[in-house]
Amino acid sequence: PGPPISKICCIGAGYVGGPTMSVIALKCPEVQVTIVDVSKERISQWNSDKLPIYEPGLEEIVKKCRGKNLFFSTDAKKAIQEAEIIFISVNTPTKTSGNGKGRAADLKHVEGCARLIAGIATSCKIVVEKSTVPVKAAESIMQVLKANNKQGVRYSILSNPEFLAEGTAIENLINPDRVLIGGEETPEGQKAIETLCWIYNKWIPKEKILTTNTWSSELSKLAANAMLAQRISSINSLSAVCEATGADVSEVGRAIGLDSRIGSKFLQASVGFGGSCFQKDLLNLVYICEKLNLPEVAQYWQKVIDMNEYQKTRFSQKIIECLFNTVSEKRLTIFGFAFKKNTGDTRETPAITVCKNLLDEGAKLNIYDPKVEKSQIIADLTSTRVTDNPEEVKKSIEIFTDPYDAVVGTHAIVICTEWDEFIEMDYDRIYKLMIKPAYLFDGRKIVNHEELQNVGFHVITIGKKL
Ligand code: NAD
Ligand code: UGA
Repeated sequence: PGPPISKICCIGAGYVGGPTMSVIALKCPEVQVTIVDVSKERISQWNSDKLPIYEPGLEEIVKKCRGKNLFFSTDAKKAIQEAEIIFISVNTPTKTSGNGKGRAADLKHVEGCARLIAGIATSCKIVVEKSTVPVKAAESIMQVLKANNKQGVRYSILSNPEFLAEGTAIENLINPDRVLIGGEETPEGQKAIETLCWIYNKWIPKEKILTTNTWSSELSKLAANAMLAQRISSINSLSAVCEATGADVSEVGRAIGLDSRIGSKFLQASVGFGGSCFQKDLLNLVYICEKLNLPEVAQYWQKVIDMNEYQKTRFSQKIIECLFNTVSEKRLTIFGFAFKKNTGDTRETPAITVCKNLLDEGAKLNIYDPKVEKSQIIADLTSTRVTDNPEEVKKSIEIFTDPYDAVVGTHAIVICTEWDEFIEMDYDRIYKLMIKPAYLFDGRKIVNHEELQNVGFHVITIGKKL
């Protein structure tokens, strides 16, 4: 028998839509995959030689499939009309105004997709919620679809949250720990689940495809991110204890991680977690708990965010204290601006908080990141969240494309992102280019502290007294 589906559409060509659909296109050559977006600029970038996002391995896949069974388009109408399965992969940011401001997820784009589909569809569709949403969001989508239903058109809604991490997206998509599909327990719902399973089964073994009811699937996504973020806040809280006592957080992390019940992953103390999702999804979970009249549960998860804020500020304060309690007019080098290595993404990066705190104290910053565009760094540091005087900030920062140029005449290096290249740099050469005493603040615990001390650096790191 032929495949149950021949065409897929994905709405939203971002960090999730782009890589997930590229991998589906790669693994299902007989299925035509079209990704649509409202942003003309993003679509033309996806159709160009310079893709809008950086992910190791992504470019090769896009080049292989684009124009064959992978298409990027702004023509949502055609793609939606033709597709049997429609993925919604649009952004669901934290609301910036109105009810739940600063906490609730803004579902306006998801709702917009539901209205768009309802207006266009003339045949039955499986609508897949790929965006991260609050529990019960599928119900809202269904309401919009049903209220605008045309004769003979039926919809099934599935929840299929995405667990990829940036920087390893392709690896995670090709070999995921699991794929989660939530659907209705009706025969129609089960048939929709089977159809989506058929896609994933092309490369993922059955045992790794988990099916649940819709609400479990939606909540599991928020729960997974909350638990991951909670581990980081836990180890970061212990890093403060280590600095005050002489314990070493790396040793503590290793010692507890060897307990198979705890496990070794996600116990890396750092300047704090960043990225577009951990904070957003935690805030969303806190908001949902409050709405459900579960204030104790809300407070519990709120503390994970609070601890992260504390860690970012604590690190910034330490830099200022070590530099004789003033960085006014001092020039400092920032190594790394992305929220983690192997991505050019700066959303909620801890580097923004660190830079803001240093700029507030009057510092001048030389910033270097191997993948983040200059315009992005400037936009982030001149945004209204960071400053009410963007012109002053522009005068206080300089963006570099060569790390060795960035250190010339600076008092300190601050490592904010764990890029591999920072480990292997010629620190003898760097030391000579800097003002003495030269300081290095390692917010990621990646460089060899003893070696750097031997070079002459004053080294300060997280979770260890040096
Ligand atoms: P993104 O901002 O990179 O991409 C979203 C895209 O959707 C944008 O290009 C935007 O123009 C487009 N869009 C918005 N409304 C639209 C509409 N009505 N029609 C067409 N296009 C529209 O976001 P992202 O990082 O890809 O995240 C998408 C969702 O996936 C979010 O809910 C996020 O929480 C979730 N998620 C993200 C990651 C990640 O690593 N970034 C991982 C797992 C889940
Ligand atoms: C995270 C989850 O890992 C994904 O499973 C999820 O799909 C995604 O959020 C999402 O929903 O968007 P991502 O934010 O891309 O992925 O990257 P992570 O590897 O989780 O790192 C997040 C932040 O935590 C980074 O700033 C990272 O440096 C930091 N981190 C991570 C630590 O400080 N310590 C650790 O041990 C691990």
